[in-house]
Amino acid sequence: MERISILGFILAIFYFITIELACNAHTHIGNDILSEQEALIDFKGGLKDLNNRITCENGTGFVISINLHNPYPRENVYENWSYMNLSGEIRPSLVRLKSLKHLDLSFNSFKAIPIPQFFRSLKNLLYLNLSSVGFSEAIPSNFGNLSSLQYLDLSSEYPNDINFGYSNDFLLYLGMDYVNLSLVGSQWVEVLNKLPILTELYLDGRSLFGFILSPSFVIFTSLRVISISSNQFFSMFPKWLLNVNNLESIDISYNQLHGRIPLGLGELHLQYIHLFENHNLRGNISQLLRKS
Ligand SMILES: *[C@@H]1O[C@H](CO)[C@@H](O)[C@H](O)[C@H]1NC(C)=O
Ligand SMILES: *[C@@H]1O[C@H](CO)[C@@H](O)[C@H](O)[C@H]1NC(C)=O
Ligand SMILES: *[C@@H]1O[C@H](CO)[C@@H](O)[C@H](O)[C@H]1NC(C)=O
Ligand SMILES: *[C@@H]1O[C@H](CO)[C@@H](O)[C@H](O)[C@H]1NC(C)=O
Ligand SMILES: *[C@@H]1O[C@H](CO)[C@@H](O)[C@H](O)[C@H]1NC(C)=O
Ligand SMILES: *[C@@H]1O[C@H](CO)[C@@H](O)[C@H](O)[C@H]1NC(C)=O
Ligand SMILES: *[C@@H]1O[C@H](CO)[C@@H](O)[C@H](O)[C@H]1NC(C)=O
Repeated sequence: MERISILGFILAIFYFITIELACNAHTHIGNDILSEQEALIDFKGGLKDLNNRITCENGTGFVISINLHNPYPRENVYENWSYMNLSGEIRPSLVRLKSLKHLDLSFNSFKAIPIPQFFRSLKNLLYLNLSSVGFSEAIPSNFGNLSSLQYLDLSSEYPNDINFGYSNDFLLYLGMDYVNLSLVGSQWVEVLNKLPILTELYLDGRSLFGFILSPSFVIFTSLRVISISSNQFFSMFPKWLLNVNNLESIDISYNQLHGRIPLGLGELHLQYIHLFENHNLRGNISQLLRKS
């Protein structure tokens, strides 16, 4: 154990030197960069392992990307949990990395710590992947100040409650598979309809149920992928999907949809539709996919 942590420490120093060489500005080292380096060292200090994936902006040395997702294939991890080997503490020094745009901590085992509240202050983030990080407590209901995010992936293997009040005008990708959305309830369509350029939506797994309501008006004009499989929808096929002109992929498998599949799917530019394992969906395939 001792030997491992000494080795880790030496690696950390070595790695820091490498980062310095790789990331520093050629012209000058400003105080801002020194402060980012301190923040980075402190942030690394909290972690039990690192896979050397921190990227700095060319020319300036500011940290723009931290990618610590678990590199091992899922099969390996499920067979042997020691492959989940990044854990430890996520320190607030992260907030001092003012240029950070991309943060990926996915598929690691930060068990028993809540999602840090200070994530809200990472204002410049464009990409945040906290999928299967193993955070223990409810996801903060409000990512409030993350107003530039384009990609938000909170998909989880461990169900988490969430009261999703987040909206911004730039979100392209929202992944919340296996997040417990029962607090949002049947309002989920209305809530997500407020994301004007949302392109990919993943809400698979367990927690949504009942009717799939129609939004009061459909502005999902950019939506290309919707995946809401393995929930407990007891509903007719949501007809409003036929008005989402850019749809390419629909997955509503493993629900309890019933009734006739509406005509008109042929008008969409669908490449993929998955309706497997529903209650009693009916339709005539040659009529369904026919263009009028
Ligand atoms: C930084 O510059 C190097 C060498 O010029 C290049 O290979 C690399 O892709 C650049 N990285 C970024 C993030 O632009
Ligand atoms: C899991 O992997 C570790 C490291 O490779 C190894 O030491 C351990 O024996 C493995 N455990 C099992 C149950 O295979
Ligand atoms: C844990 O990560 C380190 C490098 O980050 C790697 O060398 C080691 O083999 C990993 N352990 C397992 C069990 O995969
Ligand atoms: C987030 O990370 C997971 C696991 O590493 C990956 O499967 C998923 O595609 C990532 N999400 C995005 C939006 O890139
Ligand atoms: C969010 O932004 C508001 C206004 O810019 C600011 O007053 C507040 O402190 C910020 N909250 C966090 C958690 O950064
Ligand atoms: C989801 O959350 C609700 C309300 O907090 C709770 O009653 C329900 O048991 C949760 N479902 C799962 C699968 O954890
Ligand atoms: C399905 O629709 C086609 C075209 O309208 C029609 O020829 C066919 O008889 C229908 N099949 C059934 C089983 O209703």
